[in-house]
Amino acid sequence: MNLSEARTALQKARRVAVLTGAGVSAESGIPTFRDAQTGHWARFRPEDLASPEAYRRDPETVWQWYAGRYADVTRAQPNEAHRLLARLERAKGEGFFLATQNVDGLHQRAGSQRLVELHGNLTHARCETCGTVAPLPAPDDFTPPPICPVCAARMRPHIVWFGEYLPERALEAATRAFQEADVALIVGTSAVVYPAAGLAFETLRKGGVVIEVNPEETDLTPYMSFGVRDVASRGLAALHI
Ligand code: OAD
Repeated sequence: MNLSEARTALQKARRVAVLTGAGVSAESGIPTFRDAQTGHWARFRPEDLASPEAYRRDPETVWQWYAGRYADVTRAQPNEAHRLLARLERAKGEGFFLATQNVDGLHQRAGSQRLVELHGNLTHARCETCGTVAPLPAPDDFTPPPICPVCAARMRPHIVWFGEYLPERALEAATRAFQEADVALIVGTSAVVYPAAGLAFETLRKGGVVIEVNPEETDLTPYMSFGVRDVASRGLAALHI
């Protein structure tokens, strides 16, 4: 498939499913997951902070890391890639579905509504005792850890950590959407973390078209119907979204 055929497939598609990863927010100034970390955090690997073991061992350090990322995300703005995906949603209506691995909330801030957050959201916390989910206070008023407004127990980041299960209903909805999609877009993800990375195969197995937008090749690249090797904003624009 060439670019012109990819554009036509996307234009004609009644059902479109999109998977996004950290690359979509890179143009908003948010470092991707596998970018080297900077400053104080350079000596930590994200994998060593985003796990239940890390939190059990040192909740204070894990919370400081999330509080810093939360402050960064609050200051960041959605970019053209987020806006183009919100526009695609308006064009496709009920035929559109977005599954994001991002925890920054920027898709919602750009206007996306038909989406699931497969890995949680770092603007919220969840009670370790009663499960209540609540938004964090504004970054300037926030000293972690937050305390549950219902039962006063300690809250943890509302994030899916390594070794934890994805929210079941969100993953089921995403799997269904990718199975039913005429066209799937895989945007800005290294596609190494499953089950999210496997969604592309749901579409391929059913005979749908899958298009990757990423400046780099990934493990999924050999299976794609077409690939746009560019950053998310230009790559999505090239598809005439
Ligand atoms: P990664 O950091 O693994 O991958 C980012 C991808 O974005 C890479 O393939 C880059 O080539 C690509 N990229 C970089 N800049 C880009 C740009 N401007 N436009 C488009 N693409 C760009 O991030 P994810 O794939 O999202 O999970 O990582 C998946 C999951 O791994 C995360 O959700 C997180 C992490 O462990 C959990 O926290 C559970």
